[in-house]
Amino acid sequence: MTADQLTTTQPPSAIPPATSDLLSDVIAGLSSDPRTLPCKYFYDEQGAALFQKICELPEYYITRTEIDILSRYHAEIASQIGPNVELIGLGTGAGTKTRILIEALDKPAVYIPVDISEKQLRKSTAVFQKIFPNLEILPVCADYLQPVVLPSPRREAARNVVYFPGSTIGNFEPNEALEFLRRIANVSGRGGGLLIGADLQKDQNVIEAAYNDSAGVTAEFNLNLLAHINRKTGANFDLNQWQHRAIYNSEAGRIEMYLISQADQTVRIQDREFHFRAGERILTEHSYKHTPEGFISLAGKAGFDFVKLWTDDARLFGVFYFVTAM
Ligand code: AVJ
Repeated sequence: MTADQLTTTQPPSAIPPATSDLLSDVIAGLSSDPRTLPCKYFYDEQGAALFQKICELPEYYITRTEIDILSRYHAEIASQIGPNVELIGLGTGAGTKTRILIEALDKPAVYIPVDISEKQLRKSTAVFQKIFPNLEILPVCADYLQPVVLPSPRREAARNVVYFPGSTIGNFEPNEALEFLRRIANVSGRGGGLLIGADLQKDQNVIEAAYNDSAGVTAEFNLNLLAHINRKTGANFDLNQWQHRAIYNSEAGRIEMYLISQADQTVRIQDREFHFRAGERILTEHSYKHTPEGFISLAGKAGFDFVKLWTDDARLFGVFYFVTAM
């Protein structure tokens, strides 16, 4: 996909990924070497609820720290962003962070939340319209990984600013992250901005604890991927025969999440059978951790100039602001 496709082609769609996509993705992933399953399939209804629980775990510093940074620096962030902006929110979910941001912004012209979940979008739009009765909100139900057509606001904005919180960028491989940031630069346009949250590299034990929590919620979240596949395709993964493990690969700067087969076993998915040896693993997620320099350099390759980084005292997490040239 090329950068300029983001604002062309295809109208916004309310249609979630079809079951056939899930089935073919699962078959392709389990047929490859090493075996993988796409992390986007974590988030069915159960998975989304489990992720909410993860965000509240004592070991999972990410969500809490990002919210703390926004709460502490919202005035500075808002003054960098400036008045009268078109704010485009990508994957902003229930909107806790976006609410803090919008409350701080100087007369935002319009807020355009883009989300794949129509239900989530309806709910958060209704809530936001109540809190900000004078703000024009134009929700777009779409997969932001695909080209999206953005609606035109009533009032002309000074610039576009994309908000991409949550360290979701961590799920992208470095080359994919670059491509995605290029497309965002295209959406931001001349003199536009990008406010983005990214998790930072740190002590291996701190990171691994966040993905191997003592309450076992992340394990449940990982295993729910198999349950989701069972529900959608009629596959017969036995959840008792798989174990969750998350390992930090410090060389690559990423968490690698695996499901490890606890026995020699055969799993049937429609007309196919997959054999797993005891100890064999399926890679289910990469979650990249960045250094400030590395992330600034990546964004630079995508056409963004670095403006400012806000972090917590322990430098666990980063909220970065970038702009494109005028
Ligand atoms: C939603 C991608 C930011 O990588 O921390 C949490 C997903 N996986 N626990 C992350 C996740 C396991 C999360 N992101």
